[in-house]
Amino acid sequence: MTSLGATSASSSSATAATSPAAVIVLAAGAGTRMKSRLPKVLHPIAGRPLVWHALSSAAGLAPGRLVAVLGHGRDEVQTWLDGPTGLPPVTVAVQDEQRGTGHAVACALAATGAVDGTVVVTYGDVPLLRSETLQVLLDEHRRTDSAVTVLSAIVSDPTGYGRIVRDADGQVAGIVEHKDADDAQRAITEINSGVYAFDGRVLADALTRLSDSNAAGEQYLTEVVEIARGDGRRVGGVVADDPVETEGVNDRVQLADLARVLNDRIVRGHQRAGVTVQDPATTWIHADVTIGADSVLLPGTSLEAGTVVGSGCTIGPDTTLVECTVDDGATVVRSQAQGARIGARASVGPFSYLRPGADLGPDSKVGAFVEVKKTTIGEGSKVPHLSYVGDTSIGAGVNVGAGTITANYDGAHKFGTVIGDHSFVGSNTTLIAPVRVGDGAYVAAGSAITGDLAPGELGVARGRQRNIPGWVPARKPDSAAARAAAAAGGPESGVSGAGPAEDNH
Ligand code: UD1
Ligand code: CA
Repeated sequence: MTSLGATSASSSSATAATSPAAVIVLAAGAGTRMKSRLPKVLHPIAGRPLVWHALSSAAGLAPGRLVAVLGHGRDEVQTWLDGPTGLPPVTVAVQDEQRGTGHAVACALAATGAVDGTVVVTYGDVPLLRSETLQVLLDEHRRTDSAVTVLSAIVSDPTGYGRIVRDADGQVAGIVEHKDADDAQRAITEINSGVYAFDGRVLADALTRLSDSNAAGEQYLTEVVEIARGDGRRVGGVVADDPVETEGVNDRVQLADLARVLNDRIVRGHQRAGVTVQDPATTWIHADVTIGADSVLLPGTSLEAGTVVGSGCTIGPDTTLVECTVDDGATVVRSQAQGARIGARASVGPFSYLRPGADLGPDSKVGAFVEVKKTTIGEGSKVPHLSYVGDTSIGAGVNVGAGTITANYDGAHKFGTVIGDHSFVGSNTTLIAPVRVGDGAYVAAGSAITGDLAPGELGVARGRQRNIPGWVPARKPDSAAARAAAAAGGPESGVSGAGPAEDNH
C-alpha cells in the first residue's frame, strides 16, 4: 500500500508522491428508482457499466488500493469485476445492510485495514467525474493540509442534496442534508457532491463516532466534517468547474442524460483529434473506440465495443459497428457489422450485414443486401449484390455474382466452401457445401454446384434450355402477349410441341 509520506520534493516518483492511499467507490445502494433487475451500477453508458466509469477515474489517481463497496446486487457486480474490465485489481468490501454512506466507508476500511494516508471517497453511480477533477481535489487537499476536502458544485436546483455550510472565513463548517435542513440552509445552492479527500486516520477515528440521530436514521459520512471541525481540524472545499461531473444516476432519465453528455465528450475528443463528425447528435461512440485522423462519421453512426477505425475511412450514414476493425481508407455505408475486419480501402454497403468472422481483404467489396459470416474475402474480391456467404474462404480477385448463396447448413451441421483465386461465380449460383471452386475456375450463372471444380474448369449445373415455338398463341390466344408476339412476326399458333390450350393456370 502506498503511504502518503507527505509530498516530499525529493521523491523520485511523482505518482507515489501524489497518489492517495486508497480510493473507495460506494456502490452498495439499491438503485430502486431504476426499476431494474440489473444492479444500477451495471447499467452501461458509452458501452461500459456506470461503476466502470467511476472505477476508471479513480484508478487514474494510481491509488494504493482501489476499493468498491458492494451490497445490493453484489454477486452480479462481483461477476462483472471478475471478468475482463481492463481495470487494476479492485478490493471488494461488502456492506450487507445499507445503513448510510458513513457505514459504507466504515465497511471499506474494515476490509482494507488501517489506512495511513489520503483516502478519497466517490460514488459508483457518478460516471462523468474525471480523474483530472479528482486530482484537483487531491492537490487542494494536500496544498491546504486539510483533514477533509469536499468536492462541491453550484447548482440551480439543490433539492435533495446535502448543502455546504461555510463559515465567515469561507471554510466548510458542515454539510446539512436536505431532509435535515432549515429554510435558510435549503436556500444554499452549493451542494455536496459526495466526493471527498480525507486524512485516513481522521476518517477512521470519526467513523467510530458517527451518530444516527438524523431524519434518515442513517450513519452519514457527511458528519465526519462536523467531527473534524469540532476537533479543531481544517475542512476545505473545491467547487467543481462543471457540476455535471458530480451528477449521479438515480433513474433512467438521468441515465440517458448523462449518456448524452458523456457521448458529447467522447465525440469532441475524436473531433479534436482529427475526425470529422457531421452530426454529433446522432453519432454514438463507445468509450473504448479508436478512430484515425481524417476519417468521416456520417449521421446515425454507432461505433461500439472496442471498434477500431483507421484513418481516412468513411463510416455511415446509419451504420453500426460492434467489435470491428476497419483499416485505412475503407468505406462502410448504411450497414451493420459485428466482429468483422474490414480491410484497407474495402467498400461495404449500402445495406450489408457482416457477422462475426467476416474478414474482408484490402480493396474488396461487399455490396447491397449481402450477408457475410465466418468468411475470408481475399484482396480485391467482390461480393457486390444479394448474396449470403458463410463458412467460406474466397481467394483474391474473385467475382461472386449477384444472388450467390453458399448453402452451408444441412439442418444439423455447417460445411465450408472454398472459392479459389481469380475464379468467377455466375449470378444466382448455389454452392452446396462442402464444395471447392478451384483457382481460375468459372461457374455458370444459375448453377447448383455440388461437386468440386478443378482449377480452370467451367462448372454448369442447371437444366438445359428448351424453347417451344408458338406456345403463347396456342395456349393464350387473344392475349396481349399473343398480339405482341404476332406483331413482332412470331410464328402462328398450332406449331407442334405447343400443346393444347389449357386454362387451369
Ligand atoms: C449523499 C450525501 C449528500 C450528497 C449526495 C450527493 C450523505 C449522508 N449524503 O446523499 O450530502 O449531496 O450524496 O449525491 O452522505 N451508499 C452505499 N451504502 C449506503 C448508502 C449509500 O454504498 O449505506 C452509496 C449509494 O449506492 C450511492 C452513494 O452511496 O452510490 C450515495 O448514496 P445516496 O443514498 O444516493 O446518498 P444521498 O442520500 O443522496
Ligand atoms: Ca443519490
